[in-house]
Amino acid sequence: MKEIKNKVFYVGVNDRNKALFEGLWPLPYGVSYNSYLIDDEKVCLIDTVEVDFFPQFLENIHEVIGDRPIDYLVINHMEPDHSGSLPLLLKYYPDIKIIGNKKTFDMMGGFYHIKENEAEVKNADTLSLGYHTLNFYMTPMVHWPETMMTLDTTDGILFSGDGFGCFGALNGGILDEAIDTDWCWLEMIRYYSNIVGKYGTPVQNALKKLAEIKFDYICSTHGPVWHQYVKEVVKMYDRMSRYETEPGLLICYGTMYGNTERMAEVIAKAASEAGVKNIGMFNVSKTHHSYILRDLFRFKGLIVGAPTYNNGLYHEMETLLSEIANKDIKNHYIGWFGSFAWAGKAVQKISDWNENKIHFEPVGEPVEMKQALTPEVKAQCEALGKAMAEKLLGE
Ligand code: FEO
Repeated sequence: MKEIKNKVFYVGVNDRNKALFEGLWPLPYGVSYNSYLIDDEKVCLIDTVEVDFFPQFLENIHEVIGDRPIDYLVINHMEPDHSGSLPLLLKYYPDIKIIGNKKTFDMMGGFYHIKENEAEVKNADTLSLGYHTLNFYMTPMVHWPETMMTLDTTDGILFSGDGFGCFGALNGGILDEAIDTDWCWLEMIRYYSNIVGKYGTPVQNALKKLAEIKFDYICSTHGPVWHQYVKEVVKMYDRMSRYETEPGLLICYGTMYGNTERMAEVIAKAASEAGVKNIGMFNVSKTHHSYILRDLFRFKGLIVGAPTYNNGLYHEMETLLSEIANKDIKNHYIGWFGSFAWAGKAVQKISDWNENKIHFEPVGEPVEMKQALTPEVKAQCEALGKAMAEKLLGE
């Protein structure tokens, strides 16, 4: 097992089988469920792994401590991808003391009917393991109410739960400095935007607490252990949780026969000619909305368009707008367009979504097209793309 520093070991597992994380989010590179074991005078395990991987997890633990018992289990987060092995772990280590907060134990009772071995901690409480001393920090709603982080103050190792996590299995290397992290950055943004992104204010509150402590390693529950890039990932979280973006443009469209797509192409060309360099375009029926949400945390401008369908809005666009509204994303511009064959509804529906649920700042005039592109509609699309470009570049 990989020793991170002074007998702090990685004992996590990789999942390359699951198609959708939480049944929702595609995993093209898999995912890791990270757990850490501190082999000190007192042995302490930090979080567990998804239950399907318990045999491998147990083997990893034995490889580090052999037949020694585990004294403590710290539960930073109760979501079952990290707490799922708890009932089985207790069968092998019945005397383990479980460290969590009040909300942790409420959930532990609910999920697993476990009510014993509890040792409740509050913010800033400490626990000595011998050489290592742990400090506990409550970080509620990053992204569940019971979430907390644990700092090994001796070696500056932050066990951050899902915070600073990243999709993607660990293919051999554990620390960032041991792997090519190029694939990580976009997957880290996609993880943040879809899993944690609704909770910008709680993330900011957690970052304020972390700003007062010193740490050189971040051991998250998903993805690489951050050491070389600690500053960068903290900065990324700070930017994302403040909804700080680049002056780029995301154009998302639904299309049945290509006519609405042609509107999107005209808008993109006009925005490009007006000077916008970062333009992402997605067909909402082909690209999973988790990737679109990811780019919405990168780019400030959004233009959406879709056909009318069954006297309403094209389904896949409805799904995307619902996801955007659910995340409470702030500080964006929006423009929109739509089409119809005989009765127009799409443009009004998108307008309603923004006015009632999304609340981005509208830019330009919405464009509505009957059946196919005309010179007039083309000019309106160009005007919309230009207006968005001027807004983005004018800042
Ligand atoms: Fe990785 Fe919120 O569980």
